[in-house]
Amino acid sequence: MGRVIAVANQKGGVGKTTTAINLASSFAAAEVNTLLVDCDPQSNASSGLGLVKDPERINTYHLLMGAAGADEALCKLELEQLWIIPSHKNLIGANLELVDAERREFRLRDALAPLRERFQFIVLDCPPALDLLTLNALVAADSVLIPMQAEYFALEGISELLDTVERIRSGLNPELSIEGVVLTMFDERTNLAQQVTAELKRFFGEKLCATSIPRNIRLAEAPSHGKPALVYDVRSKGAESYIRLAKEIISHYLPAETVEPVATETEMDKSA
Ligand SMILES: Nc1ncnc2c1ncn2[C@@H]1O[C@H](COP(=O)(O)OP(=O)(O)OP(=O)(O)O)[C@@H](O)[C@H]1O
Ligand SMILES: [Mg+2]
Repeated sequence: MGRVIAVANQKGGVGKTTTAINLASSFAAAEVNTLLVDCDPQSNASSGLGLVKDPERINTYHLLMGAAGADEALCKLELEQLWIIPSHKNLIGANLELVDAERREFRLRDALAPLRERFQFIVLDCPPALDLLTLNALVAADSVLIPMQAEYFALEGISELLDTVERIRSGLNPELSIEGVVLTMFDERTNLAQQVTAELKRFFGEKLCATSIPRNIRLAEAPSHGKPALVYDVRSKGAESYIRLAKEIISHYLPAETVEPVATETEMDKSA
């Protein structure tokens, strides 16, 4: 049974989409079938993986509205074991159109249910809001991965999300767990980053991912080429760090022998 991971944080621009794209790609590169579902009307995950805008293409909106099945919405990407269900800006309408709908928080969960056997990981990229779209993602998910920047008020911003996770756990999705908190755009050289990391470590304990993602220009450039960082520049620190994060997460769930190790270039260089 596949594992569904929602990448969520209602704060904008913290690296959700960059994490969703590159984590999903790193899972696929580790030879596990992976699906990325773009749940954000901004559609950054879709365009960042090279999909041109096409209102006719079946997308997450159709899934939520019950107008199409998930298997019809799958798009194959360049990486062998990676698929995407794209988004479109009309997805914003689902927030309103579903207000009075039956099982409105379960739409995505129900739609993805037939795919859970087929993919070992399903990664959901959420919009920067605690709206019905994010709610659908959190109800569909087994766990939530929270990207965060190491800023002074980092913890304050996160409490609303943690409260929402708690509410969902006590009602709509009792199985929802916290996959981890991952620091993004991290600059370990600053004192502030060190202090905030120490505080987050105290607060989240082992839920704070051992891997943090450095600020890296290649991660920002790759989407404009429609590629994940590990295709655009596998030797970049950004690509390497997401490969490491994927390994860290995979190690929680899959027995090591079923996973093809993805050697980062640095590791290859070392062993050469
Ligand atoms: N580690 C990184 N190094 C350099 N740039 C980064 C990194 N992570 C993200 N970025 C850049 O920061 C910006 C915001 O990142 P991203 O789109 O992933 O955030 P988001 O949380 O998905 O935003 P939104 O809330 O709008 O959906 C983008 O321009 C992205 O390229
Ligand atoms: Mg985004």
